[in-house]
Amino acid sequence: MEQSWRNGITATTGGSKSLLILVILLLAQLQALSARHIFAASAGTPRSFIRNGSTSEEQDSVIVRRNLLANGLAITPPMGWNSWNHFSCKIDENVIRQTADAVVSTGLAKLGYNYVNIDDCWAEIARDEKGNLVPKKSTFPSGIKALADYVHSKGLKLGIYSDAGYFTCSKTMPGSLGHEENDAKTFASWVGFLVALLVAISSLILLDVKMDMQFPQGIDYLKYDNCNNDGSKPTVRYPVMTRALMKAGRPIFFSLCEWGDMHPALWGAEVGNSWRTTNDITDTWESMVSRAEMNEYYAELARPGGWNDPDMLEVGNGGMTKDEYIAPLLIGCDVRNMTKETMQILANTEVIAVNQDPLGVQAKKVRMEGDLEVWAGPLSDYRVAVLLVNRGPRRTSIVAHWDDIGIPPKSVVMARDVWEHKTLKTRFVGNLTATMDSHACKMYILKPIS
Ligand code: GLA
Repeated sequence: MEQSWRNGITATTGGSKSLLILVILLLAQLQALSARHIFAASAGTPRSFIRNGSTSEEQDSVIVRRNLLANGLAITPPMGWNSWNHFSCKIDENVIRQTADAVVSTGLAKLGYNYVNIDDCWAEIARDEKGNLVPKKSTFPSGIKALADYVHSKGLKLGIYSDAGYFTCSKTMPGSLGHEENDAKTFASWVGFLVALLVAISSLILLDVKMDMQFPQGIDYLKYDNCNNDGSKPTVRYPVMTRALMKAGRPIFFSLCEWGDMHPALWGAEVGNSWRTTNDITDTWESMVSRAEMNEYYAELARPGGWNDPDMLEVGNGGMTKDEYIAPLLIGCDVRNMTKETMQILANTEVIAVNQDPLGVQAKKVRMEGDLEVWAGPLSDYRVAVLLVNRGPRRTSIVAHWDDIGIPPKSVVMARDVWEHKTLKTRFVGNLTATMDSHACKMYILKPIS
């Protein structure tokens, strides 16, 4: 069933099947309609309900209850890039294309950073005569469909931005309030002829290989902001877009950017794949740490399929260095011009592995003594991730006690320093102590060995 939203192709023989597949592929753009029905059913809406002649409102209400988590996305926190933190409104199609190029050429894509997300300011202030959003002609002259083709041709995914209000936060483009279905359809339908052709050609070449290809179609991720709305509650406005995305027939990661106004962690899992728990981050230590703190409050509500979102990374924008915990990893710097140090931080495979651990349990602050903090969370394979943070002004040591971090007190533990990429020679019993500078942190993976 999870395959049903894919446009799966199985090609086992050559010859006549080639032509057939080519025709099927060139018709790919017409598939949105049928996929829409299949997806609605596959996402958990009982088929009998769809068939039994109920009204569309009744169908909607069922879809709302089962909702987006059935879109199969966000099994681990999303990784990628977003334009806002570095570029704010100064974006255009070249920046997005060059970013996609850089995400691949730097090796970030291979590490899992695969969403390229356009934030605010990509559309004209007015919709067209049919009520559709119009990409801004001066900055996105080729349109978003062409951009989606380009980003998909690199093996990446494209994200877009809208708002559950009349205008977005920049007030330079319309929001989707009252246009949810139309906009969701637009986002899902941005697939170009070129993509269909590329897939067709590759399938012809690989014809003797059994393939199950997922067509790259349209938008893959929607960040949905909360500005300039009608005063109604986010719990009313956001699910309207949830339903609209469900109907659009394409699994689109739905990122609720509600800033934590109405504790979205409490209701977000049924509505989207991640929810901002905080207002906007700035490029300072205090801002980052306070966002981590607000996010921690909801730790127990994060899970595969739906994540607390403490806002995007500021690494590489100049103000700070490290920002790691179980949360979306969305780069917010100019990846076309990164320093070696920025790249080293973002490309730390051991830290990424903690973020993407299949257990999907968010770490918590387990101990705080003044400015000294111990954070910990379980990982797969009976391991524990521990973060020691010195928020104070002086160099000092911090102790992580086994009984604070969920390891039996007498266990002998092997510790791996994931910033230094070293397994420590010492075997630890009862606790581990590290000394660190002001505003520094240390992160270990602890594995009980006896
Ligand atoms: C809000 C969001 C930010 C960004 C801007 C764009 O402030 O919280 O992340 O998307 O809007 O205007």
